Amino acid sequence: MSKKLSLDNTFKLYEEALGLIPGAILGIRRPSNFVEGEYPIFFETAKGGKVVDVDGNEYIDMLCAYGPIIIGHREEEIDNAVINQIREKGFCMSLTQSVQNTLAKKLQELIPCAEKMVFVKMGSDATTSAVRVARSYTNRIKILRCGYHGWHDWCVEQKGGIPEKLYEDVIEFEYNNLEHIKHLMSQHGDDVAAIILTPINHPGGHEVEMPKNGFLEGVREITEEYGSLLIYDEIRTGFRVAMGGHQQKSGVIPDLSAFGKAMANGYPIGVLAGKQEFMDELVDKVFLSSTFFPNSLAQIAALKTIEIMERENVLGKINEKGTKFAKVIKEHIEESEVPCVFTGEPWMPYITFKRDAKNLYKKLREEFYRQLIRRKVFLQPFHHGYICYRHTTEDLEYAAEMIAESLNECKRLMK
Ligand SMILES: Cc1ncc(COP(=O)(O)O)c(C=O)c1O
Repeated sequence: MSKKLSLDNTFKLYEEALGLIPGAILGIRRPSNFVEGEYPIFFETAKGGKVVDVDGNEYIDMLCAYGPIIIGHREEEIDNAVINQIREKGFCMSLTQSVQNTLAKKLQELIPCAEKMVFVKMGSDATTSAVRVARSYTNRIKILRCGYHGWHDWCVEQKGGIPEKLYEDVIEFEYNNLEHIKHLMSQHGDDVAAIILTPINHPGGHEVEMPKNGFLEGVREITEEYGSLLIYDEIRTGFRVAMGGHQQKSGVIPDLSAFGKAMANGYPIGVLAGKQEFMDELVDKVFLSSTFFPNSLAQIAALKTIEIMERENVLGKINEKGTKFAKVIKEHIEESEVPCVFTGEPWMPYITFKRDAKNLYKKLREEFYRQLIRRKVFLQPFHHGYICYRHTTEDLEYAAEMIAESLNECKRLMK
């Protein structure tokens, strides 16, 4: 049996934060999203594929900051490019710097739908501006959606502080269910500005689900039939499934697409990219501006991240490692006979527990992730993980071994 981690500093900081920040921590990083009392709440440093908490415990970081870390933490070549920009040019000015065009030209090459694009800061900026552009272009109000698209009024799940009128025209559909979309479109199609979806389904706490054969093609056809736009939210799939996102892999091209997360290895950037006809709504109909959107540091980081990813075939290598990792984990799960499944291979590894009437799965889930964190593998019970380029073969072998041991510990609960 592994011992509980020493987390004194974490809990001290948490107590202090309770008096400073409502709930101490924002959103998905709150302790309730992990195993309370077992996981650290504050990290101090990170390097490559590892993170160290404020008590000095070092973990294999398989959450990768919820997606942005695609190469590794503190990647010197990227950080040096950013530091050079700070020292030699500056990054926050009253006019836009020329690196905007350099990055835009690169993305035009990489992303199939990207005839034009705008740079924002967060994924939520990109998805929300996509919806605004679609509503402006079509002069329609309704949106069909599926999946997490950020924290803004039209889509966030927790409705506190949001008048119903701001989301009453947003209708949820079930992923991989074309009949459901057809049914909704038969009722609302003439008012639907856009269908927005993540090309891979990655709902919180549930298995990662790949698109069924013909699903994305079917959605594409339906939008064309009704004159609605198709928006892909590629915040997680962009620069991970393929450089140009899932659309590059599947060949099913949306009208508009949102990118962010992995594109700049941790520096904050979002992109709304799309076909010129739709993007040109931003010329004089749709307003989009922020003090910080043109800030060039993340653009410099994105260019350098992309350069490294292309030069070193980063995604090919992550794919290779992820496929191997998935195979080993599946074998461990089968041997253990613990009722859980592995999904998301090779880009979004996730172990979820099969639901049962007696809710044993909740106990198994808690025990599994408790055992895993005690063995210094940082994964989240309610969110899939990620693999980055700097995860070494040894890191992944260690993680796989610890997963096997943690599954083994779960067996006690099944007797
Ligand atoms: C699929 C998807 N869309 C949009 C967002 C929102 O991005 P951000 O948190 O950068 O605003 C996220 C963030 O997790 C996401 O996973």
